[in-house]
Amino acid sequence: MTINEILETMDYGTAPETASEALAWLDKNRPFGNFINGKMTDAGNTFCVTSPATGDELARVTQATAADVDAAVAAARAALGKWSKLGGQGRARVLYALARLLQKHSRLFAVLETLDNGKPIRESRDVDIPLAQRHFYYHAGMAALMETELPDRAPIGVCGQIIPWNFPLLMLAWKIAPALAMGNTVVLKPAEYTPLTALLFAEICGQAGVPKGVINIVTGDGRVGEMIVAHDGIDKIAFTGSTDVGRKIRAATAGSGKALTLELGGKSPFIVFDDADLDSAVEGVVDAIWFNQGQVCCAGSRLLVQEGVANQLYAKLRDRMAKLRVGNPLDKSVDMGAIVDATQLARIHGMVDACDIGEKHAFSGDLPNQGLFYPPTLITGLSTADTLMQDEIFGPVLVSMTFRTPSEAIALANNTRYGLAASIWSENINLALGIAPKIKAGVIWINGTNMFDAAAGFGGMRESGFGREGGWDGLYAYTKAKAPAKKIKPVVAKTVSNNDILDIDRTAKLYIGGKQARPDGGYSKPIHDARGRLVGHMPIASRKDIRNAVEAAQAAASWSGTTGHLRAQILYYMAENLSARSAEFARNLDTYSGTKTGKDQVEKALDTLFTFAAWADKNDGGACNTPMRGATLSINEPVGVIGAFCGEAAPLVDLITPIAAGLSMGNRMIIVPPETAPLIATDLYQILDTSDVPAGVVNILTGDHADLAPTLASHMDIDAVWSLSNADISKTIEAGSVSNLKRTWVNNGRISDVTPSEFLRHATETKVVWIPYGEG
Ligand code: NAI
Repeated sequence: MTINEILETMDYGTAPETASEALAWLDKNRPFGNFINGKMTDAGNTFCVTSPATGDELARVTQATAADVDAAVAAARAALGKWSKLGGQGRARVLYALARLLQKHSRLFAVLETLDNGKPIRESRDVDIPLAQRHFYYHAGMAALMETELPDRAPIGVCGQIIPWNFPLLMLAWKIAPALAMGNTVVLKPAEYTPLTALLFAEICGQAGVPKGVINIVTGDGRVGEMIVAHDGIDKIAFTGSTDVGRKIRAATAGSGKALTLELGGKSPFIVFDDADLDSAVEGVVDAIWFNQGQVCCAGSRLLVQEGVANQLYAKLRDRMAKLRVGNPLDKSVDMGAIVDATQLARIHGMVDACDIGEKHAFSGDLPNQGLFYPPTLITGLSTADTLMQDEIFGPVLVSMTFRTPSEAIALANNTRYGLAASIWSENINLALGIAPKIKAGVIWINGTNMFDAAAGFGGMRESGFGREGGWDGLYAYTKAKAPAKKIKPVVAKTVSNNDILDIDRTAKLYIGGKQARPDGGYSKPIHDARGRLVGHMPIASRKDIRNAVEAAQAAASWSGTTGHLRAQILYYMAENLSARSAEFARNLDTYSGTKTGKDQVEKALDTLFTFAAWADKNDGGACNTPMRGATLSINEPVGVIGAFCGEAAPLVDLITPIAAGLSMGNRMIIVPPETAPLIATDLYQILDTSDVPAGVVNILTGDHADLAPTLASHMDIDAVWSLSNADISKTIEAGSVSNLKRTWVNNGRISDVTPSEFLRHATETKVVWIPYGEG
């Protein structure tokens, strides 16, 4: 080709990256065993790992056995004490060395990742590996700061970490760096399609001075994941992958006492308003859905376009698609590489081929004639209920529909069972920032997409899972409160005397939607004081009452949009009204318990109301220090509707605390009062009525905790359930939460002093909003 011809076509040739060093490393090391207690074991039964771009075998890798998993967990357990006692500064040095070594071998890691996963070298070199390094640098700092900044937190213990194939080394870094920083040890399983960079990482662990047993890596398929999940020696599971497997893990760990974080799928909206810079939005789409072949949990896979510009945007997109380069991922000028595995490719084909509605536009350029490639595809003209609008395709397929008004855009964006991320495109910053809080997602990008950094928490809500990775928030997933926890004593039934006499019959009711309501089932239960005298009847709430309470709480959604100042005023007002009736409450508490603690409890309840009134406008959130020109805001939002079972130690305090904590952050609460003193809650109704608490914001259902727990836990319109109960309901709650993967916070039959900040954390959903700014 002559220079003139090149200038004429403006075509550019190939720029292949050599794979020779990565292949030489594979030659030297295969077949691979597991990395346990600081050493590679001999290979056992192996499976084949291939390059998706060529079909070539890259290595044989061991399918770990139960004995391998036992050995890895035992090594992690043995290493735990010394590693956690090494102190933050000591751990910081090891994490820093890992970051440095990742940097020194960055090209080897990038090439190996591309060979194994099929992603373009441009992405592994410029995104995956630098972000993995950044994670280790950032968490070296967190290790150094742990003792001073998180003085009341301790490591959780041995962490089982199961990661997917879409960002193999990056997901490893997201899991291992914070775990180690906080003094935990780990057993990590990479995905069966992409274990190679984890095995290269194992090699640099020795050079970085990671003590033996602190990091263990076992390879294999989902069966190995199941063994880790079920293992008694594991204290916490961190999982990234499909929602289906996330559900199985939630079910398998229910009641085990294992901590759990789930980072699952998504169907994230990419919203383009008619005043958006359409050319930028087109480049945004390329990054949102064709980055990593669309195999990204937070991919902007649902394009929602304002009607007036839809045709124009689609035309621009089709033009841009024609210019994409799909092919050899080791070619530095390629935009899209291969799909990770034949199973995944077949899944994408199956989903797209089954769609016979809308208008399909596929990339018309050449695809390589070998390897696992799928053309970039755009499907327009779909509507909300269509399968492809709802289900995660996890491939380079963008589906689209139009909207007319901002409120319709919000409704469509939230019309999904997921809640991971969203992109909003508009040149009107008022509009974009006004939409951001209304979208149910953990991460929002304004005029941008797929921005990540170690300093910003990442994670979702609803069926996208729970927990955050990165930033200060991410550290809570790898720490627990230092406060010791004691076993809860079972509730002792009061003796019933034969001479039950009530002065005046008291008819306690439920409290639903701001009104006292008779129990739907028409049953009540006698409640006795400590001396066995009848003091009243407790209404027994039924499933129907729970449904009514949830409906009332959902209808009170505007509470979640109120200001912290207003919520503080209402909590102070509750304190004022409780204080006015303090003598009566103290007397009743003394009667119910047969002790003289009533006065003290009322004082503590007043303190609690004041504490959470104080926090209502001070749980600030913050600006994350991400390397971007712009602002990355971490905004504290309410979780939504929370069901809470109260403890029994000090009934009034145990009742007031979840109410006050939940309300201070703008949640709507469904409260199940202490079983031993339910009538103290029914005494509270007038206080709620006279303190301007809007109808539906606090709902109170009395009944046996074990009877109410299954329905509350499995209700699809409840966003979180807390159990501070003395009843043995932790397992029921965690198992029930599988329905909509709601957040849970259970005591596992142990009681400890829970700090206000821990309550607030459970009452808060963090949303990270990325706002790039500046001209030129
Ligand atoms: P997957 O969820 O099955 O695999 C993720 C990891 O979990 C792998 O390491 C796997 O070995 C392990 N695993 C599988 N079954 C397990 C079990 N029962 N217990 C414990 N660990 C288990 O994802 P897969 O099959 O690779 O992809 C299926 C779909 O999942 C994709 O089409 C995509 O929709 C979604 N996905 C989402 C990801 C995300 O980042 N949110 C990542 C990977 C897949």
